Amino acid sequence: MRIIIHENYSALSKWVAYYVAGRINSFKSTENKLFVLGLPTGSSPIGTYEHLVDLHEHGKVSFENVVTFNMDEYVNLPEDHPASYHYFMQHHLFSHIDIPPENVNILNGNAVDLEKECDEYERKIKELGGIRLFLGGIGADGHIAFNEPGSSLSSRTRVKTLNYDTKLENSRFFDNDISNVPGTALTVGVGTVMDSEEILIIVSGHKKARALQMAVEEGVSHMWTVSVLQLHKKSMIVCDEDATEELKVGTVKYFKDIEQDNIKHLPEV
Ligand code: GLP
Repeated sequence: MRIIIHENYSALSKWVAYYVAGRINSFKSTENKLFVLGLPTGSSPIGTYEHLVDLHEHGKVSFENVVTFNMDEYVNLPEDHPASYHYFMQHHLFSHIDIPPENVNILNGNAVDLEKECDEYERKIKELGGIRLFLGGIGADGHIAFNEPGSSLSSRTRVKTLNYDTKLENSRFFDNDISNVPGTALTVGVGTVMDSEEILIIVSGHKKARALQMAVEEGVSHMWTVSVLQLHKKSMIVCDEDATEELKVGTVKYFKDIEQDNIKHLPEV
């Protein structure tokens, strides 16, 4: 697993956006060869989305032949609710780029049959040949998507009960009232993310420091689902200095040293 440490959130966001755009461009997608991209919500990817929009506006990247699959969505929250992930994605990315609306996939938390909705999602990902690059974030408890501590590391897309910490954390989007936060969500599984060809996880801020430490310096554990990245053939955590607070000085030095040439310049777009 690669660990790329940037000075701050702003540098991290720009680097990740250029990396993603570079991946899309080098794939040389066509109508018959679509680039399948997994996407997260949350505050972590907002800076990346801003830079991707900017790159798009400057003609450096097109999403015309990109298909996206979002990681998760709340159950029973109207799509036009400002805290819904449908709303978030439209607002921060999709309404600013040239992705065809039919290429956007976000789990429908209002589906009549939620299990069927999850199975269909898995089927569609498979049908498109799998996810080429899954971009993600993590919760303070180390969850990827909504795979809370204790989730099966081979789980697939399913309905998941949200734990107290996550609801408390996300209550900032629900008038700071935890009782307004939906108790369940649909989420891709840990196994779904692991099946991707490549995974890039953004980790920013000291709130995530413990999770980053568990993911990097401890073993694989279902209690910190992000730690499973250690088993992936091509995974990378891109973080900022604040998130490294709990890592050993030696660990930080080590990764800074081996990645020094890669952070000097932005990835080629
Ligand atoms: C939610 C989402 C996760 C996201 C996490 C972190 O729980 N389901 O996919 O990674 O929030 O959010 P933030 O980036 O705002 O810290």
